[in-house]
Amino acid sequence: MNYKTPKGTKDILPSDSYIWQYVEDKAKTVFNNANYKEIRTPIFETTELFTRGVGDSTDIVNKEMYTFVQKERSLTLRPENTAGVVRAFIENGMHRYPSPVKLWYKGPMFRYERPQAGRQRQFHQLGVELFGIENASADAEVIQIAMKLLDELGLKNLSLEINNIGCPKCRNAYKESIKEAVSSRLLEFCTDCHLRFEKNPLRMLDCKNDKCKELFASTEIESVINSEFICEDCVKHFSELQEYLKVLNIDYKINKRLVRGLDYYNRTVFEITSTNLGAQNAVCGGGRYDPLVEMLGGPHTPAVGWAFGMERVISLLPALEEKPLDLFLVTNNTKKAFELAEKFRKQGISCDFDLANRKFQKQIEKASKCGAKFAVILGEDEISSGVMTLKNMQTGDQQKLPSFEDVIKAVSSPV
Ligand code: HAM
Repeated sequence: MNYKTPKGTKDILPSDSYIWQYVEDKAKTVFNNANYKEIRTPIFETTELFTRGVGDSTDIVNKEMYTFVQKERSLTLRPENTAGVVRAFIENGMHRYPSPVKLWYKGPMFRYERPQAGRQRQFHQLGVELFGIENASADAEVIQIAMKLLDELGLKNLSLEINNIGCPKCRNAYKESIKEAVSSRLLEFCTDCHLRFEKNPLRMLDCKNDKCKELFASTEIESVINSEFICEDCVKHFSELQEYLKVLNIDYKINKRLVRGLDYYNRTVFEITSTNLGAQNAVCGGGRYDPLVEMLGGPHTPAVGWAFGMERVISLLPALEEKPLDLFLVTNNTKKAFELAEKFRKQGISCDFDLANRKFQKQIEKASKCGAKFAVILGEDEISSGVMTLKNMQTGDQQKLPSFEDVIKAVSSPV
């Protein structure tokens, strides 16, 4: 029997895992510097959290969830993490923490989608959620952090699109106008759009079906989209966000068709796309979800956040060299090697040695194969005379050094 990874999943091998660590380390620094704290929630949650939280008009809930029943309880592998973080926020009384509560997370998500370039069934997200601030400054801050992180990672050719999809107060009239505009030709829309028409007509606007897109072109929908449907408070919120983005020198485009695929959003929605990706060009998506905490049983708490797909970000990174091993100990005295390796590692010098205790020449070859910057040779001669031979693996230069400290100094100074 040949076991293989399930369709739509991938191993992250040592040849790539250092790139993942690089992204995670950069993210950790950017988040910590802005006072965001990490939260880790379970990978599965009760199914109802997602049907209610993500919304039963979404593709995620309707078609993409990995759900299983365990002792009569229906559980689901998380398709995204906003609902789980909100559940944790409420369950742990985090609304009583000083406001705002700023959280970040990373980890695997699961969606049963047709795998293609940039789309997997198990994929990984890095994200932030900010609770407790209604003001557009919170939207601006989370967008700023996303842009900053992507910039620090060296991603180019990104574009930020924003929209304001209104609040429960003004959105109902907008939904009705959309329904009115398409109702005479509804039967011609795809079956998904029929469901969206009933449950969340806004979502019809980003249907990817070509026939639906054509139908839109022949309805009144464009004039509905371009109408100023949002209420005064939402207009104010949206213009404040834009003022902040201008102050922060963040370029953006307004895309009135941007509605996003999850039901919990209100007011701000945004997406960062890359021209260097194929059909799945969304690197990062997010928005404001003020009603969600209350919907899931907590007190009214405004919130905003985003998540990016780590696979997509990693596919866009400029070439990255793996940090080499600092030194390889070459010796036939394994006990001494254990002792010395520990001493070097304590000083922050990465160090390895040959557990199989092969011949010296083989060990030197191993040092070279694993890309070590230096080899420390400790033969009988060196041990009896109390020195160490340091070999620069790039130049081949060798020098005898009398003390451990001299080796540390030589290894730590730039090659
Ligand atoms: P989302 O747009 O569904 O939003 O996903 C965010 C990002 O995850 C996407 O932009 C994409 O980069 C990545 N992604 C999504 N599905 C896949 C997939 N099948 N394979 C690879 N990458 C994928 C959310 O999940 C929201 N929870 C974001 C959010 C946080 N909104 C507010 N707070």
